[in-house]
Amino acid sequence: FGQRLFYKEEVTSTQEEAHELAGKHEPEGTVVAADKQVKGKGRLDRPWLSTPGTGLWFSIILRPDIRPQYAPQLTLLAAVAVTEGISSATGLDPCIKWPNDILLNGKKTAGILTEMQSDPDRVQAVIIGIGLNINHETDDFPPDLQSKATSLALENNGAAFHRADITASVLKSMEQWYETYLTEGFASIRRRWEELAVTIGTRVRAVSRSKTVEGYAEGITEDGVLLLKQSDGTIEKIYSADID
Ligand code: BTN
Repeated sequence: FGQRLFYKEEVTSTQEEAHELAGKHEPEGTVVAADKQVKGKGRLDRPWLSTPGTGLWFSIILRPDIRPQYAPQLTLLAAVAVTEGISSATGLDPCIKWPNDILLNGKKTAGILTEMQSDPDRVQAVIIGIGLNINHETDDFPPDLQSKATSLALENNGAAFHRADITASVLKSMEQWYETYLTEGFASIRRRWEELAVTIGTRVRAVSRSKTVEGYAEGITEDGVLLLKQSDGTIEKIYSADID
């Protein structure tokens, strides 16, 4: 991945750039990266803070030959790949919070946003956007985020990392897991995801716009849905929510 790399100093969002390139038939593995995003996009239509010089903001175009309902598998794949890419480049030990936050010491250090272009029954392109907080200092985050967000450097006693090393490690890990996905399917990715996820095997609260569900997180399904066991033994499926 990244053989074709479009690097721009400033963009609205690398997701938008990647969508445009995917529409122009750019091959899979193409990466769009930027130092500054004026309007970085997060999950659930939230903004994503992209302070220049501190992090890595990039989007990867993939073209798996799958049905649209399986696209969330690529988000879980990316979460595994980013977690492993970070740990092999830094020696830190991040974990995953469902669906795709990457945490260090309970605070978010990376986020993943998956979008797709598709026909009714076939995916044309999956755009995986990865935002990695690398060299932020505490003051680079607004006060309301300081207790929830962190960076690799902050979790490394303030010592900065080379952003290029982290990118290379994450892209290599993405490429290896994608190869596994294409040759062996989703099963091993799901297993690895469940090993790396703090959410699984604990009691959690899933808060969405329509309701709040509490339960014991048993695992995820083939398509990334979180399974919460209720006190009466029934299983509630969580498609989209924030986990407390
Ligand atoms: C989240 O946790 O809410 C997902 C955050 C995804 C942010 C990345 S940064 C690169 C790419 N471009 C965007 O506008 N968003 C994603």
